[in-house]
Amino acid sequence: MWEDLEVTLEKISEDQRKVKPAQDSLGFGQHFTDHMFLMKWNQELGWHDAKICPYQNFVLDPASVVFHYGQAIFEGLKAYKGKDGQVYLFRPEDNIERMNSSAVRMCMPRLPVDKVMKSLKGLLYLEKDWIPTSEGATLYIRPTMIGTEPFLGVRPSKEYYFFIILSPVGAYYSEGFNPTKIFVSDEHVRAVKGGVGHVKTAGNYAASLYTSEMAKKKGYTQVLWLDACEHKYIEEVGTSNIFFKIGDELITPPLEGSILGGITRNSVLQLTEKWGVKTVERKITIDEVLSAIRDGSLTEAFGTGTAAVISPVGELYFKEESYLINNGVTGELSQRLFDELQSIQAGQAEDPFNWVVRVG
Ligand code: COI
Repeated sequence: MWEDLEVTLEKISEDQRKVKPAQDSLGFGQHFTDHMFLMKWNQELGWHDAKICPYQNFVLDPASVVFHYGQAIFEGLKAYKGKDGQVYLFRPEDNIERMNSSAVRMCMPRLPVDKVMKSLKGLLYLEKDWIPTSEGATLYIRPTMIGTEPFLGVRPSKEYYFFIILSPVGAYYSEGFNPTKIFVSDEHVRAVKGGVGHVKTAGNYAASLYTSEMAKKKGYTQVLWLDACEHKYIEEVGTSNIFFKIGDELITPPLEGSILGGITRNSVLQLTEKWGVKTVERKITIDEVLSAIRDGSLTEAFGTGTAAVISPVGELYFKEESYLINNGVTGELSQRLFDELQSIQAGQAEDPFNWVVRVG
């Protein structure tokens, strides 16, 4: 297997393996497995030195481009252990393809999709004992690319690292699957059309921190961003796309360059369409959402993302007023989507769109 891959394998010895954390208190992104994948890129060799190696620190020059101009992109996907003991991935090639779109926008090299897929499978095979088996817990996979050339001029790096690390995780929000409270920002914005809002680049997340901290201090879990020009149209929640059920329609903002094209968003659109739900990708204003809450026609709202899967929204806070959605209780469609997606992802339900990839 390893020879085909052209990837060097540096395994740690049994006695160096970490003690695995208890599965009932994993939190999100706090623990990391014993091994990682790493490969390097330069203009002369392209991608080279691919290896699966012990999880380790990097020694980087302080002038590395990533530290100064933020040339960094990443992805998030998950591995699941099914009841049959098999390891499953959910639409992994879509993540790698999306990373390649991010790479193009950020002047970074594209990844060889086949090689990354095979290396990821090899890494997961080696780390399969790290995949949690308790309800709702999974192994989160974080592929990342950074510019490593030591150079202070503003131009793309001529050297890169691409690495994959693995983290056993529980629910992303401390609320678990319970409805979250969301702060709608009318002051700060996340992204503007023509910029990099549709790119999974580190800077988008750095730029969201100030407002997220502000929201947390007021008791809200996340920020719902409005468009940068008119502060009127709904964009996305910092870590998820957003959906509203108004009347018999399921509405989500269209992908017009300032929001991320979520893989879970796309899966929800396909699933609900199959179920006969009327789905609409269209612009929707915060005023329309609030008046639909007031007149009772908005019955559900939920976020979609890899980390959070489906996260029901129980309350919106906008301009000093709070608006309760569905009495703060999880809606029927949110619950159905959560259950169905989790079952498909763990290889337990029919997979009508061939989303699931078995490892090994
Ligand atoms: C994901 O859903 O995988 C994300 O990347 C969101 C967040 C944890 C950064």
